[in-house]
Amino acid sequence: MNSLKGRVRHNFDRGALHYQEYSAAQQALAATLLERCGAALPTSGIILDVGAGDGVLGRLATTPMVAVDLSFAMCQRSQAYYRHVLQGDAEALPFCGGSVAAVVSSAMVQWLEEPVIFFNEVARVLAPHGVAALAVLVEGTLREVGDARREALTQCGLPVAAATPLPSVATLDASIMQSGLAIEHSSDWEGFTWHPSPREALHALSHAGVTATRDGYHGNKRFYHAFMQCYAALFPAGKIFHRYVAKIYRLKKAS
Ligand SMILES: C[S@@+](CC[C@H](N)C(=O)[O-])C[C@H]1O[C@@H](n2cnc3c(N)ncnc32)[C@H](O)[C@@H]1O
Repeated sequence: MNSLKGRVRHNFDRGALHYQEYSAAQQALAATLLERCGAALPTSGIILDVGAGDGVLGRLATTPMVAVDLSFAMCQRSQAYYRHVLQGDAEALPFCGGSVAAVVSSAMVQWLEEPVIFFNEVARVLAPHGVAALAVLVEGTLREVGDARREALTQCGLPVAAATPLPSVATLDASIMQSGLAIEHSSDWEGFTWHPSPREALHALSHAGVTATRDGYHGNKRFYHAFMQCYAALFPAGKIFHRYVAKIYRLKKAS
């Protein structure tokens, strides 16, 4: 397992207990995914929720699904909402080729270093004419956090290059097409959460699993203080928000 994946699993294991409390944006995104794509999902066969987390799609969907998640603690939290829950990796789905009627996934793909590996897996496990409904957080998500981070790194004399990149829509579209899946429909989504202070805003992110960055500065006190100051400076009126930007895809496997 690569080091990013190990950290992602560790952070979601740690955050699983309080994830529901701090994931208002992810819950709103999951609800929108079902509103926009739910009618296209089959009513029989295996419907697979990849990166199911604590089970938001399982709680909202009317058709029973099977869940896969990297985090054992998340799998435990979602047990009640799925037919089966498997601890597994989106990049090596524990299913035979052509055995799945539909794949759903919300707010998971942004954690993958190479989304194309997941899209290839979706194309492999889907039965002919199978569908996938995916909500992917993209560039623009938490832009203010990224801006404050860059400014704080500069102030601390630390290298600025090592950020956690969110996928661009162009990269996602190209990766989907490379996997052989057809984009039947795609649409945009934007959501906000509001926080009383920078500290609480970052606390909320940490509980939603967002500290699993590639940069390794988490825990560096000097950087943390600079970051807090830069972050607060971005919201002079004191109304602190996190912005989430997503692309919602309805995909089809041709044959
Ligand atoms: C932001 S949470 C989203 C959870 C849920 N889908 C939701 O919308 O609230 C991301 C989830 O994806 C899982 N995840 C991240 N990388 C994964 C991977 N490679 N394979 C399977 N699950 C993964 C994490 O463990 C976490 O539970």
